[in-house]
Amino acid sequence: MYKVLQACLYLWLYLLVELGLYEAVLQRPKIFFSASYTTFLTGEAVLLECQAPADSTIHGYKFFKNNNEVPGTGASSRSKYKISLAKNSDAGSYTCLYYISDARGRQESEVSFPVFLSIIDQPSTPSLLVNPEQSLYFEGETVTLECVHSNINSMITYHFYKDTSKVQSYQDTSKSQHHIASLSTKDSGTYDCEYLVLGHQRTIPSGKSKQQTITVTALSAPPLLKFLPSYSAFIIGENLTMECEAPSPVPVTLYRIYKEEEELKGPSAHKGIYALQNVTRAVQAEYYCMYWSPKSNREIPSIPSPTKELYVIDPLRPPLFFVEPPSGRIWDGGNVTLYCSAPEEYERTRFHFLNDTDGIISVSSYKKQTTATVTINMRKSNSTSSTKYFCQYTAEIKGRSLLSPKSPQIEIIVSAKGSLLWLIAIGVGAGIAVLIIIVALIYWVLLAKKDTKKDIEVSKPVRDGGCKVTSL
Ligand SMILES: *[C@@H]1O[C@H](CO)[C@@H](O)[C@H](O)[C@H]1NC(C)=O
Ligand SMILES: *[C@@H]1O[C@H](CO)[C@@H](O)[C@H](O)[C@H]1NC(C)=O
Ligand SMILES: *[C@@H]1O[C@H](CO)[C@@H](O)[C@H](O)[C@H]1NC(C)=O
Ligand SMILES: *[C@@H]1O[C@H](CO)[C@@H](O)[C@H](O)[C@H]1NC(C)=O
Repeated sequence: MYKVLQACLYLWLYLLVELGLYEAVLQRPKIFFSASYTTFLTGEAVLLECQAPADSTIHGYKFFKNNNEVPGTGASSRSKYKISLAKNSDAGSYTCLYYISDARGRQESEVSFPVFLSIIDQPSTPSLLVNPEQSLYFEGETVTLECVHSNINSMITYHFYKDTSKVQSYQDTSKSQHHIASLSTKDSGTYDCEYLVLGHQRTIPSGKSKQQTITVTALSAPPLLKFLPSYSAFIIGENLTMECEAPSPVPVTLYRIYKEEEELKGPSAHKGIYALQNVTRAVQAEYYCMYWSPKSNREIPSIPSPTKELYVIDPLRPPLFFVEPPSGRIWDGGNVTLYCSAPEEYERTRFHFLNDTDGIISVSSYKKQTTATVTINMRKSNSTSSTKYFCQYTAEIKGRSLLSPKSPQIEIIVSAKGSLLWLIAIGVGAGIAVLIIIVALIYWVLLAKKDTKKDIEVSKPVRDGGCKVTSL
């Protein structure tokens, strides 16, 4: 009983295997593209392959496009179907089957699962646009390169090339524009571009655009901004002229003068001359200038000149002047000290003590010193003399030396000791003489009084004559 059951099981298994094999012979084949992608360009060759599942004597294959048998493939024993020059109309779903011929006749396998063929047009060659377009660019200018092509409904990446190597500064490859914000002479070269169509299991290059040449020239050598007169510090109310001077061999079409960043407008500003009259504090600033020079139908700007600072200062005030002793009176041979004091501190100050006859005594101060003193030993050559003294200072301000107004004058009187003694002698002599006269007068008055007592009646008419002296 157990043996019969076992035999039955084997038979059953055998039948199953036989049936399976039979089924396997007719199993559906696989269809695939020889290439690893399914999108082809118009004009490319497409090769489809039909692969039967097992080795068996296969007698032929049939290919179907959109479920319709592709004409001419039925009689073929070849497992490959080739489209030599793909057209847009070749796109569609493709399937295949195979058949065998045996004792039971011709038997066809099941139809394969489909594959889909897409056809896209060859990407058009792009063109490279340069904006703005110039025969010559100068340093610092901005330029945009754009890779232009007809619209494509696919993902695209762009490549820009300079002298056939990839532009490294171009990074966002999904953008068709490459922006160069500030050109340098190193950017000179021949440019082209290319784009790649992505998203079809393959990368489809467009081919390179026509080349465009970019030439960048360096800016012209900087000019020099000059002030005339050539100070950098000006007193309120003074006039000055600014002059922009280009290096001599350069032809210049235009000048511009700037105060800080603002261009100055004036009748001759474009010729590089700007006049400032009656300067005020408002013009104190940094100035610079530039010029433009023609080259290849373009005007190339220069590098800006070094900036020049304009200082505006108040007129100098007169100094304070004192003497010691304050009375200004001094004996011959005595010392007098003169003090001169500037009202402000300057980088360097030089004090001058002057009088109306002799030369000047100058004293240089150290930095930040505002007062100077001199002591003069007064010597008198002849009789009592008086000399008027005053002081002035020279202040150095931003390299310019300015002389202050004069201080008020102070008179210094030198008296000789000798002449004074002589004067005293005269005084004493005169005093003695006066004393003698007074004594003489008293004596005479007393004598006169004695006479009047004798003849008092006689004197009366004399009095009427107006000769009376006693009233003195
Ligand atoms: C500045 O120029 C004006 C006009 O030319 C003139 O009248 C004036 O005297 C000048 N001022 C000075 C300080 O030179
Ligand atoms: C110079 O400027 C001052 C103040 O702005 C003004 O009072 C004076 O009249 C001006 N002088 C001249 C000559 O323009
Ligand atoms: C005047 O000054 C000098 C030196 O500064 C000094 O030698 C002299 O004694 C002074 N004369 C008087 C009168 O003070
Ligand atoms: C005083 O002396 C000066 C020279 O030291 C001379 O020039 C002047 O004439 C003299 N004055 C008198 C009044 O003699």
